[in-house]
Amino acid sequence: MCGIVGSIGTQQAAPLLLEGLARLEHRGYDSAGVAVLPPTAGSSPRIVKRAGRVRDLADALPKRFAGKVGIGHTRWATHGPATDANAHPHTDETGKVAVVHNGIIDNAAGLRAGLVDAGVEFTSDTDTEVLAHLIGRSGADTLEAKVAEALSAVEGTYGIAVLHADFPDRIVVARNGSPLIIGVGDKEMHVASDLAALVRYTTTVAHLEEGEMATLTAGGFATYRQDLTATATRSTHLDIDADAFDAGDCDSYMLKEILEQPAACERMLSGRLDDRFGTAHLGGLGLDAREIRAVRRVKLLGCGSAHYVGQMGATLIEELARIPADAEAASEFRYRNPVIEPDTLYVAISQSGETVDTLLAVQEVRRKGGRVVGLVNVVGSAIARECDGGIYLHAGPEVAVASTKALTTMFLGCALLALQLGRVRDLSVADGRRLITALQALPAQIQQVLDQEKELIPLAQRLAEAESLFFVGRVRGYPVAREGAQKFKEISYRHAEAYQTSELKHGPLALISPAVPTIAIVPHDELVDRNVGALHEIAARGGPLVVLTHPGVDLGGLEAEADVARIDVPRTERELDPALLTIPLQLLAYHAATHLGLDVDKPRNLAKSVTVE
Ligand code: AGP
Repeated sequence: MCGIVGSIGTQQAAPLLLEGLARLEHRGYDSAGVAVLPPTAGSSPRIVKRAGRVRDLADALPKRFAGKVGIGHTRWATHGPATDANAHPHTDETGKVAVVHNGIIDNAAGLRAGLVDAGVEFTSDTDTEVLAHLIGRSGADTLEAKVAEALSAVEGTYGIAVLHADFPDRIVVARNGSPLIIGVGDKEMHVASDLAALVRYTTTVAHLEEGEMATLTAGGFATYRQDLTATATRSTHLDIDADAFDAGDCDSYMLKEILEQPAACERMLSGRLDDRFGTAHLGGLGLDAREIRAVRRVKLLGCGSAHYVGQMGATLIEELARIPADAEAASEFRYRNPVIEPDTLYVAISQSGETVDTLLAVQEVRRKGGRVVGLVNVVGSAIARECDGGIYLHAGPEVAVASTKALTTMFLGCALLALQLGRVRDLSVADGRRLITALQALPAQIQQVLDQEKELIPLAQRLAEAESLFFVGRVRGYPVAREGAQKFKEISYRHAEAYQTSELKHGPLALISPAVPTIAIVPHDELVDRNVGALHEIAARGGPLVVLTHPGVDLGGLEAEADVARIDVPRTERELDPALLTIPLQLLAYHAATHLGLDVDKPRNLAKSVTVE
């Protein structure tokens, strides 16, 4: 999704902007552009923008592109196709204004019509250009007042950064539904829509609040509301390692993040397990034992893979805590006017903490008086701040679009929550300890699965040749199958569909053929015999099988008779099976995509954080 960067200070802006934009590439984009204010007083911003990659933009920049104040953008097309003209920054008729914008202006068509009637000639199809004209035509005295006046006419979501030739000592930014972070440097200030673009320059940051604006000058920043009354947003120092945002020795961020899972899980669990009482310490939830005891239902909300983890979590919570629990796609939840129950605990799950559908679902619950806790990776993100409490995932920065380590830690978050909910009810201390022991063993067991990577490569390459694949599982295995299909689709662009194994004979079995492999999740659990039976039905129709299972599971002679590949993962407590079963599916998707020569970190049409509806 779109990305914003901006810098003002003593250094030339263009190299800083290009570096920042390159670090936002993972968000997904189709064009990029920069604007800098030249050093000569009164000069209009110089703008260069191109459809294509950041490197195309860098190639297009003239040798002399001087200026110490600048803004940049990566665009993900919404209003109008990916063309040079539609790329940001946009300017007004005088050319004095430059604006970059993330989000969507809902009333852009009406505003545009009014501006056209007033004689304005538009040069792009975008909603953003409306803002540039409104700022340019404002008669207010200061840039802050011009931007505030323009924003008062606008309905929709935005994160914006604005330059103006008449106010060359500042960048004005504003946030409404689209994140912006200010980075405080030494005699320079930065702004970005994502921490990844800032960490090379500074780890002292201030998160702009919803509805807030800010002015950045070389010497500092000031925040205020849209009525220009001051606010007290302060910067904080983040204890983060800038190198964690690099791919290091790995060929891709995705592989790096897959391999980081044992360490991410260690961090996630650290200090949160209470062996004495067989429970979890989750102080961040802000719930005491009585409040936890009063929870009668749990609803888990997330999008995409975070929704699938929610499904895994719902099963886990029902099993351990014996409380009804279900998961729903946050993107649908808000639109069906959901009944919000006072004794339901709502759990918002999000890696980025910025997914707008999940954020809006949280706001819907809170608006109706419900209590929401977050399972979020990015500290200080919009969802984390909007929730009543939560559990940070501590997975470390996740850059690749395809989520891996964040999902595994989300599952652990669900397990900790289930443990705590269970232990204030009927889960015995012995059962609590049984799960704690299993949780503690998971990082090493994940490492054991990762150690099988080389053996999985030929299998992944074979699967990559199939046009269409099935992923099947039951109960705990079904969301694992959904997640496996999702990973495959996202990065290898193969058609991959997930079904409950039990549903095969109600329709999809008709599609089984030697050309359609099935990846079957067959854990050593209460359904193993039924699952093995289904494998025979698939094999009888000539369908190639990849069976993801546990050591000791007897496939009933299938391996000798049919086209079957077997992947064994270590056994854990069955409630925790998804944590290990998902790992080989990540590796299969990764190696299938690289075999096809695809860029796994930047899959087509997708973005890391989906910040527009
Ligand atoms: C996962 O691989 C996907 N990229 C996607 O489904 C993602 O999980 C979803 O967009 C939610 O993102 P979030 O966790 O940042 O809210």
